[in-house]
Amino acid sequence: EQSLRALAARHGLAIGTAVDVDVLRDASDPQYRALAASQFSSVTAENAMKWESLEPTRGTYNWGPADELIDFARKNKQQVRGHVLVWQNQLPTWLTQGVGDGTISKAQLRDILRDHITAVVKHFKGKISQWDVVNEAASDPWDTPSSIHLKGFWAQHLGPGYLADAFRWARAADPNALLFYNDYNIEAFGDRGASDKTWYVYNMVRQLRASGVPIDGVGSQGHLGTQYGNFDAFQALEVLDAFSDLGLATAFTEVDARSQMTDGVRAGDSNEINPRLQASASNYSVLLQACLANRHCLSYTVWGFTDRHSWVPGWFTDPPEGLATLYDESYRPKRAYNTVKADL
Ligand code: XIL
Repeated sequence: EQSLRALAARHGLAIGTAVDVDVLRDASDPQYRALAASQFSSVTAENAMKWESLEPTRGTYNWGPADELIDFARKNKQQVRGHVLVWQNQLPTWLTQGVGDGTISKAQLRDILRDHITAVVKHFKGKISQWDVVNEAASDPWDTPSSIHLKGFWAQHLGPGYLADAFRWARAADPNALLFYNDYNIEAFGDRGASDKTWYVYNMVRQLRASGVPIDGVGSQGHLGTQYGNFDAFQALEVLDAFSDLGLATAFTEVDARSQMTDGVRAGDSNEINPRLQASASNYSVLLQACLANRHCLSYTVWGFTDRHSWVPGWFTDPPEGLATLYDESYRPKRAYNTVKADL
């Protein structure tokens, strides 16, 4: 029985998963560790490298959990994707409060960002193959205004120049890591109008590259939901090809395909003939086939591999959603797993 990582290796593709370090060290849940090691050739920290985890108190870094993952990866001959340097979520309170109450000025904020990027990238230097330098900077068509714009804390307080700065600081700290812009809802082009996020991100990275900013790739998260209209592998490939035609590498960085817990779908359900689970499997397949068809797609990473430990039920609650991963809650491979395997 071949592992996903052995099959992916034949294509020169890294197959990865997000890892929850607390579960990884939980001796009462040994299958998590075993499957993370045996099935995947790349790992991403689900939370351990986010700013609030690494620097919960100003100036005091907590490297422990992230280093545990690095160690796990080394033992298992896995790559590590660094996630994430600049993002508006999961920032430490000292930072958001300091900016809010005016004790951190704009000039100080820029210095803080530079110092954070430099410290983190240097700490992991040589151990990280790809860094998500900037995550989720672009708004969505359902935001106001609906024309896509730079959203969130960093754009608000530093203006659009923070993007170029972040990539330059990251490059200076580790010239060998590949530097990625990472975002969701950019798996297919829409009408390429003002509210088409994929088109906006395409133009944004094209301009960054044209101005000599050291960006090496675009990560497409790939958080899909079976309730949405589907796109096919050709459409997904069109986006990857557009990015790689700019000279950028591509990757799927956070793939999962969730379902609303309706229509007879039950938690723990891994029934092969369940239509929602078939749809989930086909979502995985569309992205994987596109990745395999694009020469510059370096890795295909799933955002957790088991429904036992997935962010989906905790995040999408109204209506409840779940069943987004490759294995069910008892670590039985689901249809999605078999489909990914067959595609590889
Ligand atoms: C999620 C984690 O999976 C959760 O455990 C955490 O509570 C919130 O963040 N896009 C990203 C990831 O880039 O960092 C997010 O991870 C999921 C969406």
